[in-house]
Amino acid sequence: MDNLIEMAKKKAGIAAVDEFVKDGMILGIGSGSTVVYAVNRLVERMKLDGLKVVCIPTSFQSTQLIVNGGLTLGDLSRFPNIDVDIDGADEVDENLNLIKGGGGCLLQEKIVASNSEKLIIVADYRKNSKILGEQWKKGVPIEVSPTAYIPLMKKLEKMEGSPVLRLAEMKAGPLITDNGNFILDVDFGEISDPKMLNQKIKMLPGVVETGLFIDMAEKVYFGQKDGSLISRKRSIT
Ligand code: A5P
Repeated sequence: MDNLIEMAKKKAGIAAVDEFVKDGMILGIGSGSTVVYAVNRLVERMKLDGLKVVCIPTSFQSTQLIVNGGLTLGDLSRFPNIDVDIDGADEVDENLNLIKGGGGCLLQEKIVASNSEKLIIVADYRKNSKILGEQWKKGVPIEVSPTAYIPLMKKLEKMEGSPVLRLAEMKAGPLITDNGNFILDVDFGEISDPKMLNQKIKMLPGVVETGLFIDMAEKVYFGQKDGSLISRKRSIT
């Protein structure tokens, strides 16, 4: 992996934790490779400054990160009100709408994000777009019930999408999500109205959740190639 990309991810992860995390907070912990740097920073602050936080995971992966880091693991039943959720994204548009789910963890990510006061995104320079679909060419991840995947593929084609069933690696057959579902990656080209598209997809029976996160992110940090950091805040309309 390109070292510049890893440095950019690290920069974003550290900045999000240092700017938003305070002692005693309930945190959402996203999934993916960039969040790892945010978790590492939490662990560092726990060891150096005695930081105490409760961490709510968004996936099997983030549960492992929390447990392996020695952080306190919580769940939504005991902690339904999260202060800050730190997560990654596959693409971010100019209004801070997101494509997520490249790592297959979108359902729990969206549940945790929707119960958080603030969703803070950590990303590298490759994720920064004007319009969704400009740079992320693998399509919008959609988590679906296995029984409905064929009819859903046909319906998504009628909506001018090109759906592909995501396959597992090192195993023949489909990828199974943490929740026992399939993922369809649906290429819609450049998405001019992500809010409308999200609403239409969510109306289809068998769709469990979409990887379009609309009007949810409050701030995004993009680590840059040259080692600097830029951030964008959502303007509340
Ligand atoms: C996980 O399913 C995704 O939503 C991730 O948040 C997203 O893919 C970002 O991952 P990276 O930080 O690895 O790019």
